[in-house]
Amino acid sequence: MKFFLDTANLEEIRNGSRWGLVDGITTNPSLAGKEGMDYRDLIREIAKIVSGPISVETTSNDPKEMVTQARDYVTWSQNVVVKVPATAEGITAAMELRDLGIRVNVTLTFSVNQAILAAKAGALFVSPFVGRLDDAGHDGMDVVRQTVQVYRNYGFKTQVLASSLRHPLHVTAAALAGADIATLPFKVMEQLFKHPLTESGQAKFLADWRKLQTELEKKKARV
Ligand code: E4P
Repeated sequence: MKFFLDTANLEEIRNGSRWGLVDGITTNPSLAGKEGMDYRDLIREIAKIVSGPISVETTSNDPKEMVTQARDYVTWSQNVVVKVPATAEGITAAMELRDLGIRVNVTLTFSVNQAILAAKAGALFVSPFVGRLDDAGHDGMDVVRQTVQVYRNYGFKTQVLASSLRHPLHVTAAALAGADIATLPFKVMEQLFKHPLTESGQAKFLADWRKLQTELEKKKARV
């Protein structure tokens, strides 16, 4: 399972990359908007830190405009994967981008049927939004689980990128569902390391070790 960071914040990307666990980045207009930087400059900075795929989102409802934006985005960095929404217009653009050899991430995916359309359009990634489905009273992980199953049934090559993950349990569930990739907010990636029993266990081991060293030093001093 690959881990992407779901952020456009350079400090988070630098910090996350130090763990050696960041296989790629997903951005969207809302995440980029928080950074107050030109989108191209921001993506170029991200590409200096991360060598894997960087999802960059189109900002139009018109397929022609999406394709025009995509052709520009891919000149920013060879890591760019272009995000289009799981709408009729987005899928039309995805097909054209496939024919142009531009890698696509079909985003804002909320149903298995949309995921099938993304695969038929030749997308590299499909992004089911788990947390937003949960917010709306559904079990968002069902879409990940069922998409993985359907893709297996038909041998679709599109990779399932579990998105809108909000907490560590989502990561476990996405892994159990067989998602190829999970994109995590920085805070969630940080939480993956944490367990209170690991922390208290480590504190006890270190305290016992120090106690032993002190006893050995005292013994040595007595001889
Ligand atoms: C994925 O590519 C999206 O950027 C992201 O996962 C959306 O998450 P949110 O629902 O927490 O905004």
